[in-house]
Amino acid sequence: MIGAGHDVVVIDNLHNSSVEALHRVAELCQLSPCRHAVDQDGVHQAWETATGDRLLRFINGDIRSPEALDGAFRASGGGDVAAVLHFAGLKAVGDSIQEPLSYWHVNVEGTRCLLEAMRRHGCRTIVFSSTAALYGCPQELPIPESACVQPANPYGQTKAAVERMLADTAASEPGWRMARLRYFNPVGAHPSGRIGEDPNGVPSNLFPLITQVAMGLRSHVQIFGSDWPTPDGTGIRDFIHVMDLAEGHRQALDLLLTTDEQILTLNLGSGQGHSVLEMIEAFERINGAPVAYEFAPRRPGDVAESVADSTAAQQLLGWSTTRNLEDICRDGWAWRQQNRHGYRSRR
Ligand SMILES: NC(=O)c1ccc[n+]([C@@H]2O[C@H](COP(=O)([O-])OP(=O)(O)OC[C@H]3O[C@@H](n4cnc5c(N)ncnc54)[C@H](O)[C@@H]3O)[C@@H](O)[C@H]2O)c1
Repeated sequence: MIGAGHDVVVIDNLHNSSVEALHRVAELCQLSPCRHAVDQDGVHQAWETATGDRLLRFINGDIRSPEALDGAFRASGGGDVAAVLHFAGLKAVGDSIQEPLSYWHVNVEGTRCLLEAMRRHGCRTIVFSSTAALYGCPQELPIPESACVQPANPYGQTKAAVERMLADTAASEPGWRMARLRYFNPVGAHPSGRIGEDPNGVPSNLFPLITQVAMGLRSHVQIFGSDWPTPDGTGIRDFIHVMDLAEGHRQALDLLLTTDEQILTLNLGSGQGHSVLEMIEAFERINGAPVAYEFAPRRPGDVAESVADSTAAQQLLGWSTTRNLEDICRDGWAWRQQNRHGYRSRR
């Protein structure tokens, strides 16, 4: 977004992230730390261009806190906030089964607080991170946006509830412009190797596990289920490079900002399904790095196959993926090789 000419204010409670990631974003966008913007712990909170015409600001706050949200809206440098990109949330399917109330609190109550704050500050444009998880076990493949919303786990339920909340809010008063972007399986990393996925604790997603095993940080990848009704018995997913996903956001935002009120509901996926075993084999082949794996029983809340029909995003945004499995494996491995311990690695 900074590259597209927007100032950006980030609010995040660092539950699953690191301020170092923002240092890296600033570096890639050629922003320098603002000397006056350092908090009590010495954490940098703002970066700007040499001419001061472009700003990135960080607020360490929880989206369930109205005060923190008000602070984020006021931190935009005096101007109105044009739009919110709403990524904040909890996303591990297994955890959501163990701790559903946390998921409802952060994902649903957090979004309600955010929408209230947007109304207080006169901002009515939002791009929301939704998920293919709300389709559950799909009746048809590839999955169109018109497919039944029938999540197979609490995580998907919370995202479905937020989609409903957004639609109800848009229907209640004029002026809302919303994009509900249903991501399939985002993987890979920025091609510079400077920004990538660095979850706290044991990753719940396949790709960071693969890179950690290839790096020798973990002994093996656990593949949940070898008996799915798929050609090789492992689950099939639609893996999408994060750079393609980012471009989908930019294009959705451009459309919202240049059109009248509306709600876009769009799948963002490649339309190509690859099994978990295929992904591991592709990673090994492309990077020459072995990845040990073991089979484990199916995980509750998982589905056999999930592949996007992204025709609507193609037609409305002119968007489609341009990166393939090779780009995903190469960029994801470059990130891990350059950052053995993620953002805790030395700069
Ligand atoms: N990665 C995926 O496979 C995937 C797939 C579909 C949808 N999504 C959705 O996309 C969004 C981003 O996913 P991601 O993979 O980057 O996950 P992530 O965990 O890296 O990002 C979520 C961010 O939200 C922050 N956060 C959590 N609770 C918060 C709170 N109460 N207040 C403020 N910040 C909070 C975390 O610190 C983290 O930086 C999520 O909403 C997720 O549900 C992700």
